[in-house]
Amino acid sequence: MTERIAIIGAGPSGLAQLRAFASAAAQGAEIPELVCYEKQEDWGGLWNYTWRTGVDEYGEPVHGSMYRYLWSNGPKECLEFGDYSFEEHFGKPIASYPPREVLWDYIKGRVEKSDVRRFIRFRHAVREVTFDDATQKFTVTAHDLPNDVISSEEFDHVVVASGHFSVPNTPYFPGFEKFMGRVLHAHDFRDAVEFRGKDVLLIGASYSAEDIGSQCYKYGCSSVTISSRGGGTGYDWPEGFAEVPLLTHIDGRTAHFTDGTSREIDAVILCTGYLHHFPFLPDELRLRTKNRLWVSDLYKGVVWRHNHRLHYLGMQDQYYTFNMFDAQAWFARDVIMGRIELPSDEVMDAYEARWSAAEQALETAYEEIDFQGDYTQDLVDDTDYPDFDIPAVNQMFKDWKAHKKADMMGYRDLGFRSTLTGTVAPAHHTPWIEAMDDSLEDYLSEEA
Ligand SMILES: Cc1cc2nc3c(=O)[nH]c(=O)nc-3n(C[C@H](O)[C@H](O)[C@H](O)COP(=O)(O)OP(=O)(O)OC[C@H]3O[C@@H](n4cnc5c(N)ncnc54)[C@H](O)[C@@H]3O)c2cc1C
Ligand SMILES: NC(=O)c1ccc[n+]([C@@H]2O[C@H](COP(=O)([O-])OP(=O)(O)OC[C@H]3O[C@@H](n4cnc5c(N)ncnc54)[C@H](OP(=O)(O)O)[C@@H]3O)[C@@H](O)[C@H]2O)c1
Repeated sequence: MTERIAIIGAGPSGLAQLRAFASAAAQGAEIPELVCYEKQEDWGGLWNYTWRTGVDEYGEPVHGSMYRYLWSNGPKECLEFGDYSFEEHFGKPIASYPPREVLWDYIKGRVEKSDVRRFIRFRHAVREVTFDDATQKFTVTAHDLPNDVISSEEFDHVVVASGHFSVPNTPYFPGFEKFMGRVLHAHDFRDAVEFRGKDVLLIGASYSAEDIGSQCYKYGCSSVTISSRGGGTGYDWPEGFAEVPLLTHIDGRTAHFTDGTSREIDAVILCTGYLHHFPFLPDELRLRTKNRLWVSDLYKGVVWRHNHRLHYLGMQDQYYTFNMFDAQAWFARDVIMGRIELPSDEVMDAYEARWSAAEQALETAYEEIDFQGDYTQDLVDDTDYPDFDIPAVNQMFKDWKAHKKADMMGYRDLGFRSTLTGTVAPAHHTPWIEAMDDSLEDYLSEEA
């Protein structure tokens, strides 16, 4: 009998899984029956922007963490699908740091061509997954939100592709409850224009703090203060930015920091990252991890060690994104289809120990990039995913880091070479700092 596969989530990871099976089918293989559950009304995961915050029209927690005017924070040449170039999609070369809508279009283009939308049950939120040792089957229970009907079906394998940048990590600082301005998490940030003329305090020193601070600056806030516990972002910021140690408390509108200094502020944005959160999984199937480059309990970063019929995609911290999710999905597909036989527990333990030790020894961003490149290469080597030039991608990530160090407001104006087509990206018609229109139409037009 044909096996049944449940895929949870139709973001870049879940879509990679559908594409992986479609690619096998196109080569003549008989593929299992696929059901992809997606709680939003369209595909693309985080790239499918929503204006909503909090809960949606059905009372579901809003998945989206993206905001208006979000542009890619890394070069598109680093995330390019190995089997679908940007040039093939757009019919011409485009610049290296596209805004959100352009990347969403690219993600959609590949899966539209693979005819996999028919496998997706939109507006279905997975509520529970259980496994029966006797039958070796999973039961997946999902809520059909528009019809308000909950039903269960059996599957032979489950792929969890529900993302991990949606449930905010929200530390408390004394004085929040009496603060006279807004306190929000980056997950709920939607439009920098709201903070025009305001003094904004950001907590955290990673990508969200960098990018939301840059957005607020670009759209006219009065000042950006980045408060963090680990020594700051390490970047040079233009006038109007300040980096300070961690917040201790807020008194009225005055924020106090661990070095004894203080500042008047109008709003606090917690850029303090996200939780891996799988409310639909029982203890024995649930991944527990922080946001890190090596996630334990997953063979090859994919196969759940405690039940080899369960797979996780995209659960690592991410330099590499779309092409790494692809390599993972190709690997999961091949395990599910019996093309890859899993080794003994001892071999898997040794694999885990080796990668985990290597991750813990990482000291610099360059080493982290090489580590994730090596990991992606390991998966590509195991599968028939196109062998794109990973050393070249690693180098692009390193150049990107250096460009950010040199000019945080200008790094998005530089272009990279595609490892697929060899084309060097042209400059966008407008420097990023002056480009207020983030629409697809404006981005693809030849002039402003
Ligand atoms: C603000 C922000 C900006 C980013 N910018 C970039 C960038 O510039 N470049 C880059 O490469 N990466 C970026 N990322 C990283 C991002 O994680 C990946 O690009 C990518 O979206 C991850 O894909 P995913 O499919 O694993 O997860 P997601 O995109 O989060 O998709 C998961 C999907 O699962 C669905 N889902 C979740 N739970 C359930 C459930 N119970 N039932 C049914 N469906 C469910 C969700 O609705 C969603 O559609 C950014 C992340 C954030 C938060
Ligand atoms: N334009 C874009 O493309 C864009 C924009 C925003 C985000 N993103 C993506 O979104 C993802 C998530 O990035 P992120 O920055 O939200 O999360 P993140 O990378 O996990 O960073 C979380 C930050 O919060 C800090 N933090 C956590 N708990 C804290 C606490 N209790 N007190 C003080 N500080 C605390 C961390 O400090 P420690 O290091 O000390 O733990 C770290 O600086 C990334 O993949 C990124 O690429 C992309």
